[in-house]
Amino acid sequence: MKDQLKAIGEEALKEIASSAGEGALEALKIKYLGRKGIITEIFKKMGEVPPDEKAETGRLINVLKESVAKALDAKLAAASDLEEGAKEKIDITLPGIPARLGRLHPITRTINEICALFISLGFRVVEGPEIETEHYNFETLNIPLEHPSRDAFDTFYLSWEKGYLLRSHTSPVQARFMEKNSPPFSIIVPGKVFRPDATDASHSFMFHQVEGLAVGDKVRFSDLKGTLEIFAKQMFGKDTRMRFRPSFFPFTEPSAEVDISCIVCGGKPLASGKRCSMCGGKGWLEILGAGMVNPKVFEKVGYDPDKVTGFAFGMGVERIAILKYGITDIRMFFENDIRFLRQF
Ligand code: PHE
Repeated sequence: MKDQLKAIGEEALKEIASSAGEGALEALKIKYLGRKGIITEIFKKMGEVPPDEKAETGRLINVLKESVAKALDAKLAAASDLEEGAKEKIDITLPGIPARLGRLHPITRTINEICALFISLGFRVVEGPEIETEHYNFETLNIPLEHPSRDAFDTFYLSWEKGYLLRSHTSPVQARFMEKNSPPFSIIVPGKVFRPDATDASHSFMFHQVEGLAVGDKVRFSDLKGTLEIFAKQMFGKDTRMRFRPSFFPFTEPSAEVDISCIVCGGKPLASGKRCSMCGGKGWLEILGAGMVNPKVFEKVGYDPDKVTGFAFGMGVERIAILKYGITDIRMFFENDIRFLRQF
């Protein structure tokens, strides 16, 4: 009897160890521990055991029963975990975990859009330093010492003695580029600029500009007009009109301020009879400054002003984005509230 019990135990544990899957293990449970199972049947044979061996045999059968039950339970628990896991992996009915895609900042998008447009017209993208010298930010651009923009209230100076400052416009890159390159060329220069303005809905101490410069032997004012006209129509719609107002910049002569027809009212009275909130009823929106490169600037970079002409323009990127997307506060670009950024 003892040997028989030992053999049953070994056989059962071997079978349990070599089977996998809940089904197979349940079958083994029935085979050994079920109502007609092998171990249950053995209990029924207790009557045949001699009285003095009964206690010991009973104990052995119980030990056998327990060890088989324990082995089965352990294996069953592992199997059910495994099947749970497998189920999870292939359950294609569960909703997936959405991957949130990042996106470009509206200012980056606008810069990219402006650049792509000018690249298609043959312009090349050039960049320059944000920390500039008085020499490039002012002198090469024919901005005299008495000019108000050279006051510390209008420019961030880093070192007064060395003349280091944060560039207040992208125009210094004009001179930097011309010193190292010969005409003809057409470039655009996107980048950050800095001015110590108090922050409000339309002012920021840092904003972005895109500068344009085209120089050759016969570059005319009409080239400037044609180029900007294409820009305005592509950027704001084909019905957009443009106008040039006489203006002044020390580095261009003649100079102009360029407006586009209001993208909300188009310059026509609103049906509601109210004043257009975008242009204030003027019908025009200022978008950039421009002009023909001042011969004095050519002289400063070593070009012969009798041989070359050129046009230049500079636009504020935030201003363009504000008009294009109907944004009411420049500060939204820099607060980086995800609910704002997600809309682009
Ligand atoms: N640099 C000028 C500004 O920041 C813009 C400009 C650029 C005007 C080029 C004319 C030509 O206001």
